[in-house]
Amino acid sequence: MSGQRYTLPAVVLHWAQAVVVIWLLWLGWTMVDLPKGAERSAAYSLHKSLGLLALLLIVARLAWRRGHPAPKALATGWEARLATATHHALYALLFLAPMAGFLASSFTPYAIKFFGIELPKLGWPDEALNSLFKQLHLAFVWGLASLIGLHIAGALKHLLKRDGTLQRMLPGRLFSN
Ligand code: HEM
Ligand code: HEM
Repeated sequence: MSGQRYTLPAVVLHWAQAVVVIWLLWLGWTMVDLPKGAERSAAYSLHKSLGLLALLLIVARLAWRRGHPAPKALATGWEARLATATHHALYALLFLAPMAGFLASSFTPYAIKFFGIELPKLGWPDEALNSLFKQLHLAFVWGLASLIGLHIAGALKHLLKRDGTLQRMLPGRLFSN
C-alpha cells in the first residue's frame, strides 16, 4: 500500500489545513463588514491568529512533502496535469496569502498576536505599504478560493467515479482501498 496513498502526517496536515483555511475565508469575508467595535476587533484578532496557524501548517506540510513525495497520480493525461498544476498553485497561494496578510498587518501601528503571544513585526506603520499588501492579500485569497473550488469539484468527481482517489487522502486503517 505504501507509495499508493498519502502518509498519515500528510493526511492529518491536509484536513487540519482544509478546516482552518475554509474557516479563514468565511471569517475574512464576514469580519470586514462588521461595524467598528469589540466584535470586529475580536474577529480580526482571531483571523490573524488562525492565519498565522495556516502559515505554520503550510511550512510543516512543505517540509514533510520534501521527504515524502505524493503518490503517483491515478488519473492520466490532461486530468493528471491539471491536478498537479492545481496542487502546486495551491501550495504557492497557501504560502503567499498568509504572508501578504502578515505583511499588511506589519505595516500598521497595531501589535500582531498569535493567540495572545506578541510577534515581531516585519514592518513599521506605513499606510501605502499596508494598502499594497492588503490588495495583494485580497488577490491571493481570491485565487486561493477559486482553486479550492476547482479542487473540491475535482475531488467530488473522483468520489462519484469511485476510483479510490479520495481514499488516498483518508487515514489508511479506517478506509482501506
Ligand atoms: C472537501 C474538501 C476537500 C477534499 C474532499 C479534498 C480532497 C483531496 C484529495 C483526495 C487529495 C489527493 C489527490 C490525489 O491523490 O491526486 C487532495 C490533495 C490536496 N489537497 Fe485537498 N481536499 C479538500 C480540501 C482542500 C483544501 C481546503 C485545501 C487547501 C487548503 C486542499 C489542499 C490540497 C493540496 C495542496 C493537495 C495536494 C497534496 C500533495 O500532493 O502534496 N484541499 N485533496
Ligand atoms: C490562508 C490564510 C488566510 C486566508 C485564507 C485569509 C482570508 C482573508 C479574507 C477572505 C479576507 C477578506 C478580504 C476582503 O474581502 O476584504 C481577509 C482579510 C484580512 N486578512 Fe486574511 N487570510 C489569511 C491569513 C491572514 C494573516 C496571516 C493575516 C495577518 C496576520 C491576515 C490579515 C488580514 C487582514 C488585516 C484583513 C482585513 C483587510 C481589510 O481590512 O481590508 N490574514 N483575509
